[in-house]
Amino acid sequence: MPHISILRCEITEIRVRNVLESPTPTKLKLGILLSGRGSNFLAIAESIRAGKLPNVEIAVVISNIADAGGLTSAKELGLPTALFISKGRKRAEHDADVLACLRDHNVDLVILAGYLRLLSPEFVAALPNRILNIHPSLLPAFPGLDAQHQAFNYGVKIAGCTVHFIDEHLDHGVIILQRAIEVQDEDTAESLSARILAEEHLAYTEAIARVASGQYEILDRRFVRR
Ligand code: GRF
Repeated sequence: MPHISILRCEITEIRVRNVLESPTPTKLKLGILLSGRGSNFLAIAESIRAGKLPNVEIAVVISNIADAGGLTSAKELGLPTALFISKGRKRAEHDADVLACLRDHNVDLVILAGYLRLLSPEFVAALPNRILNIHPSLLPAFPGLDAQHQAFNYGVKIAGCTVHFIDEHLDHGVIILQRAIEVQDEDTAESLSARILAEEHLAYTEAIARVASGQYEILDRRFVRR
């Protein structure tokens, strides 16, 4: 139970801080971390543009890969961006730079959008239940890499995606929401992946809206809307 009040407190603190610091209430600030094409990031950016996430804004887009398509897209959209190349660096040192950048931009929620790098325990501990990830399977089935292919090869009849908080274990934190689709007999691993991706684009916006509302509790592992 103390668990729950801490979470309520965290969200309330964010809101209170925002309201106190500005004459007009400011928006919840997202920090996007990505390594690749960034279609989930673009779906979130489009949701914000379309007014589907009215209390949310993207404060910074950070990549660990110089030629990530998502980083180029963020620049084209005129968003603040940062590049911290992770290759050859110690995980803790790289993560400390990313964390400092997120703090510089007053980020409230971190959104992993195809960020192909494990987070250090220090990074995760600094932002408890404030880092979201999307995974292309119905967790806890098929954690890890190539989840869509794992699910297809296993022969599942229902596939989908999961948005969850990050904790210290891989693809394991509290589940915010899932979207499921039926696997068709004529599916290939590629067609299934494409249909899961379309669900991901819907799921991430919905999950961010739920978290940004602050109207939830975490009961053991269960994310419950109030
Ligand atoms: C998505 O399939 C997501 O589930 C996984 O990484 C992929 C990122 O795709 N975590 P994109 O870069 O957002 O297009």
